[in-house]
Amino acid sequence: MQDIFDLTGKIAVVTGGAGLIGRQAVSALRAHGAKVYIAELDLDRARAVIESPGFSGVESVSLDITSEESIAVMAREVIAREGRIDILMNNAYPRTPDWGALFEDIKPESWRANVDMHMNGYFLCCQIVGEEMRKRKRGCIINMGSIYGIVGPDFSLYKGTTLTNAAAYSAIKGGIINFTRYLASYYGPHGVRVNCLSPGGIQDGQSEAFLKNYAERCPMGRMGNAGELAGSIVFLASDAASYITGHNLVVDGGWTAI
Ligand SMILES: NC(=O)c1ccc[n+]([C@@H]2O[C@H](COP(=O)([O-])OP(=O)(O)OC[C@H]3O[C@@H](n4cnc5c(N)ncnc54)[C@H](O)[C@@H]3O)[C@@H](O)[C@H]2O)c1
Repeated sequence: MQDIFDLTGKIAVVTGGAGLIGRQAVSALRAHGAKVYIAELDLDRARAVIESPGFSGVESVSLDITSEESIAVMAREVIAREGRIDILMNNAYPRTPDWGALFEDIKPESWRANVDMHMNGYFLCCQIVGEEMRKRKRGCIINMGSIYGIVGPDFSLYKGTTLTNAAAYSAIKGGIINFTRYLASYYGPHGVRVNCLSPGGIQDGQSEAFLKNYAERCPMGRMGNAGELAGSIVFLASDAASYITGHNLVVDGGWTAI
């Protein structure tokens, strides 16, 4: 029987592919046969990932999603080498140094900068790479959303910690999730599928207090691991999801179920 999850021969670009979730996405897409490019602002980090076990055949390409020119150059470079981009995963996570400031302390210019870098960066990547896909009449875009694009934060999570939840994140991720639906509708007749993946909180060295608060609130009693997103990424990218577009696949241990 044909393996509907097989990505052999597919060309994939993962923006921010050297980060916590990006690395797992790259490794999973590669393991299922895709030729994968880590499209990154931090090329040293990308090279370190490529040199680690499980990433053979993966390549890196320079990308700043906040620059239209940089996105166009990245797309041209990959297409010149491979002839096309089949899978685009919008996963980069730009943010300002004051990201996570208390709501009352957020400067309007900081809010604008975060929306511009992150949400508008995803728009630019979709527009530039999506146009190549539209012309070829096939392609797949996965946008990274979040539970915080669906529900508001539970601030009891941050009790006893120095953390809080960045206000712009809710606007950015909510925007990306509904923009995904717009694009699914627009690109549907052109053979380009566009979906969102919305994880819950992913474990990454958070404090004991935070982990405890999270575990108490989450139905599955813990944060997720980045590797637990791999199956959903491969699924959305593959023929197993050939009739799925405009969907927001939530991987959150039940966070948004209650
Ligand atoms: N970590 C979580 O708990 C979590 C939960 C839900 C959703 N997400 C989403 O998943 C995605 C990845 O998050 P992460 O936690 O892996 O982030 P991360 O910070 O670990 O990695 C992000 C990567 O993006 C790169 N990057 C930053 N600015 C860039 C730019 N302008 N152009 C290109 N690359 C750039 C960074 O160099 C970094 O390697 C984001 O969209 C984030 O909102 C994360």
